[in-house]
Amino acid sequence: MKKTMITAIAATTCMMTMNAQPKLSATNIDEVLKAMTLEEKARLLVGGANNFFGDQAVVGGEATLVPGAAGTSPEIERLGIPATVLTDGPAGVRIDPTRKGTSQTFYATGFPIGTCLASTWNEELVTRVGEAIGNETKEYRCDVILGPGMNLHRNPLCGRNFEYYSEDPLVTGKIAAAYIRGVQSQGVGVSAKHFAVNSQETDRTSVDERVSQRAARELYLRGFEIAVRESDPWTIMASYNKVNGQFSMGNRDLLTKILRDDWGFRGIVMTDWIGIRKGLETITEVQAGNDLMEPGQPAQVNEIVEGVKSGKLDIADVDRNVRRMLEYIVKTPSFKQYPASNKPDFKAHAAITRQSACEGIVLLKNNGALPFRTEQGNNNSQLVKTVALFGENSYDFLSGGTGSGCVHPPYVVDMLEGLKNAGIKSSVTLTDIYRKYIDYAKTKFQAERHPAKWFQTEMMGQQKYPEISISPIAINKEVEAADAAIITIGRQAGEGIDRDIQTEFNLIPEEHALIIDVCNAFHQAGKPVIVIINSGSVIETASWSGYPDAILCAWQPGMEGGNSVADLLTGKVNPSGKLTMTWPLAATDHPSTKGYPGTMDFYTYQVTRGYTGQVQGYDYTNHDEDIYVGYRYFDSFDREVAYPFGYGLSYTSFAYSKPVVKVIGDKVNVSVIVKNIGSVSGKEVAQVYVSAPKGKIEKPAQELKAFAKTRELNPGEQQTLTMQIPVRMLASFDEKNSQWLTEGGEYVFRIGASSRDIRQTVNAKIGTYTEKVSDALAPKARLNLLKQ
Ligand code: BGC
Repeated sequence: MKKTMITAIAATTCMMTMNAQPKLSATNIDEVLKAMTLEEKARLLVGGANNFFGDQAVVGGEATLVPGAAGTSPEIERLGIPATVLTDGPAGVRIDPTRKGTSQTFYATGFPIGTCLASTWNEELVTRVGEAIGNETKEYRCDVILGPGMNLHRNPLCGRNFEYYSEDPLVTGKIAAAYIRGVQSQGVGVSAKHFAVNSQETDRTSVDERVSQRAARELYLRGFEIAVRESDPWTIMASYNKVNGQFSMGNRDLLTKILRDDWGFRGIVMTDWIGIRKGLETITEVQAGNDLMEPGQPAQVNEIVEGVKSGKLDIADVDRNVRRMLEYIVKTPSFKQYPASNKPDFKAHAAITRQSACEGIVLLKNNGALPFRTEQGNNNSQLVKTVALFGENSYDFLSGGTGSGCVHPPYVVDMLEGLKNAGIKSSVTLTDIYRKYIDYAKTKFQAERHPAKWFQTEMMGQQKYPEISISPIAINKEVEAADAAIITIGRQAGEGIDRDIQTEFNLIPEEHALIIDVCNAFHQAGKPVIVIINSGSVIETASWSGYPDAILCAWQPGMEGGNSVADLLTGKVNPSGKLTMTWPLAATDHPSTKGYPGTMDFYTYQVTRGYTGQVQGYDYTNHDEDIYVGYRYFDSFDREVAYPFGYGLSYTSFAYSKPVVKVIGDKVNVSVIVKNIGSVSGKEVAQVYVSAPKGKIEKPAQELKAFAKTRELNPGEQQTLTMQIPVRMLASFDEKNSQWLTEGGEYVFRIGASSRDIRQTVNAKIGTYTEKVSDALAPKARLNLLKQ
């Protein structure tokens, strides 16, 4: 009897222990949560690190699972909770290409940068790129790709514009949603970043972005809102900066009121990569709705534990975030023990890279010189068998930007190779000069690099070397043998640094001279000159665009870059990319340049890389231009631009029928027939801009409200494009009443090929619409807002 009792007690104890140790599954999250100790809960909210902080880094050290990945969420073995791996992003999987102890390589496809993808205006195509990126993420045993980058191109000088999509929130939101749907269809997640208003790199970890509630809602947050509503991202990354006085990472207004209460976000929020912040307690981050601190430090675990014990932090807040973490973890390949191959399908992904880059490259100017007539194919203009290829980036083509947004691709097709693949020869002398120069410049640059300049290494992306001058004598010698000249103007930029107007936005004297001298020499012989812009963001063009015959903005189009450009030069593909941002005459034409990157003051520097203290830096940035960002400014204030928003040429032309605009319930349907009236096949992006009637709230002259791209239309062929605009998307943000407000009246629907090439307009009556939302992000400082 006694023995039976003992056995029974032992069995019960054992069951209790077993009950107390459930293993995580998709159906027992409550049970696992109950079984977790406070310490385990705190640990789950503090991410594992890579080598960001040296030896202080280790919370599990799980990042070594995939060398070079940015971080992890921690493992709790006792409860069957695996570590998950987070990798940059967004233009492909950014992991170390080689590993100790093996000769196997781990390169990843270098896809086109964000700006190039957005310039396709092709959501379906971007989804296919997303699928390929998601597939590589999974095959490299990662769970989340840290992208898409969704900050607005508030100003052309932001160093990370290349990762971002547009100056317009609709383009940003739609393209991001397309990318996210693609990535997540593969069973891995995204981290849409950087939430929010992270429009500059200068002092990004401390700067306060002071912005009106209206500009925040209508511009900086709207893209994220569209992406959350239309693609359900697994995770969102809170940005480094402050918004209206509070760090995004501890900003309850942003991370809970707006993101979850107003938009219904269901995933987890993680911090950008900073660990402990000076001036922001981890407790505040947890309370604000930040579920994962990256990359974590042990002190943060203690802070959460002590916070709960002392009553400063409510356990309910911790449980809420832990539950969200568990819900995220059960979806991941790591949890499902996906047998990763470490072998992505480079061939298939190279094809999608080449195609998507072709659609994102924008033809800015063409006097008929393009497409080239080649021996391989078409019978257009100029027969081009040999070119004189100028500019160092012709031979060292920039496939992507620098910083965490760079990728390590297995190869990059430069212009020389791309042309060769298309059957076009290049000058041997120029190849010799530039190749030798690049070798020399690389060695010199690395020898002279300051050790603290971590971003100036090949591991942080391809570097740009200063352009060299080629004398008119040397140029003249090239004219006879070549049928045309191509000049590549390269620009590199990236994380941590904004761009300089004089040397990076503008052309430097060597580049100016090169364009003018090459154009003079070749034009005298009746031969065309083409300029290829190989830059992640906008540059000055007005001072030199009159010289060349054609200008192609190739962006940084990924590892197949040279092939994509050659496809367009030879007419194998007809350009159909359009600008997603205005190209101003001068950088200072943007009203935001006045306050960019902000106002100097003393502030306490963040703890990154072991340094803290009072330094002088950019303390805040006033968004005095308010809602007048990009074309919203240039069109409302009638300012001349170099190339307008939405602009891009084709080798054919398109006619637009009179559109039909119908208001059906809370939606406006716009349909228009687009017809190819030229002589080669091509695709067209139709854009719908809306001008609102005069009402209580001041409005920009017009705002993009819908767009659609045709399929490839043969000459004479047409397609009806049908676009839907929810009436709520016509609303402005009414700060006084914390609501979206579409004021009733007669709206003008302007349908065209760019913001300055409106082909048809139709008026339609729209009823009043309101939508209450939370009162959030009120500015603490006075802004001097621009008015019409
Ligand atoms: C960047 C993020 C990136 C993270 C991890 C940060 O410095 O701002 O975009 O995802 O590092 O590498």
